[in-house]
Amino acid sequence: MTAKAAIRVHGLTKCYGVGSGALVALSDIGFSVGEGEFTVFVGPSGCGKSTLLKILVGLDRATAGTAEIQGEAITGPRRDTGVVFQSPVLFPWRTVLDNVLLPIDVLRLDRKQHLATARELLSMAGLSSFERHYPWQLSGGMQQRVGIVRALVHDPKLLLMDEPFGALDALTRENMNMELQRIWMERRKTVIFITHSITEAVLLADRVLVMTPRPGRIVRDIRIDIPRPRDLSVANTPLFGEYVREVRELLNATGAID
Ligand SMILES: Nc1ncnc2c1ncn2[C@@H]1O[C@H](COP(=O)(O)OP(=O)(O)O)[C@@H](O)[C@H]1O
Ligand SMILES: [Mg+2]
Repeated sequence: MTAKAAIRVHGLTKCYGVGSGALVALSDIGFSVGEGEFTVFVGPSGCGKSTLLKILVGLDRATAGTAEIQGEAITGPRRDTGVVFQSPVLFPWRTVLDNVLLPIDVLRLDRKQHLATARELLSMAGLSSFERHYPWQLSGGMQQRVGIVRALVHDPKLLLMDEPFGALDALTRENMNMELQRIWMERRKTVIFITHSITEAVLLADRVLVMTPRPGRIVRDIRIDIPRPRDLSVANTPLFGEYVREVRELLNATGAID
């Protein structure tokens, strides 16, 4: 493989606290993600998934080891990165459109220049007629879509997502999975997606990295060779079932219960 690595992590360890109260959240994490690749981390609650994401986003520091994006050590939030957290954290006093334009304001980019992109993305997410609405006037699924549109508005190369659909009902979640796949295929972002749903992982991923319970380590790196675009019926195929079984057995073997 000669594809350039967009993300490279080596020997990464994260401890919270010191002395007898110290807690090792991540232990010797190493992986690299190629440009345009869709990589999914799956692991039990508390295994350090969010910790890893916060380090990649530049909101937290590793205790040891290195984490690089495009060959540069991560020292803080980056312009080329979009982030989606588990809850969409929208500002209630901003309209949908103004929430979407938040990164433009924060990065001090030109609002006028990005307005068309914002509207185009809102339209793609089926939210065109809601741009003047406030977050509390939208359903949970719609709010989460606003969060995703916001993460894309400055056209970042990397999209980092921490259980973005965890709070949604099953139907909405499936629709969002399909939507995300479509966006990714259209715009070819490098994606890191965190979940504790095995089926969501297999449905979305080029690669599934399976983590152990705390301290989180990577036990397996599984390439998902299912052609795209994948629709929801792919979940009924024997091959899909094989991948799901492989991931589940690994999680069971490490003592993680999904
Ligand atoms: N800021 C923090 N201070 C102390 N402990 C933390 C902090 N953030 C997370 N932890 C602990 O680190 C472990 C991993 O947490 P987290 O990364 O949120 O796991 P996950 O996202 O996989 O559920 C947990 O035991 C959690 O309690
Ligand atoms: Mg988490």
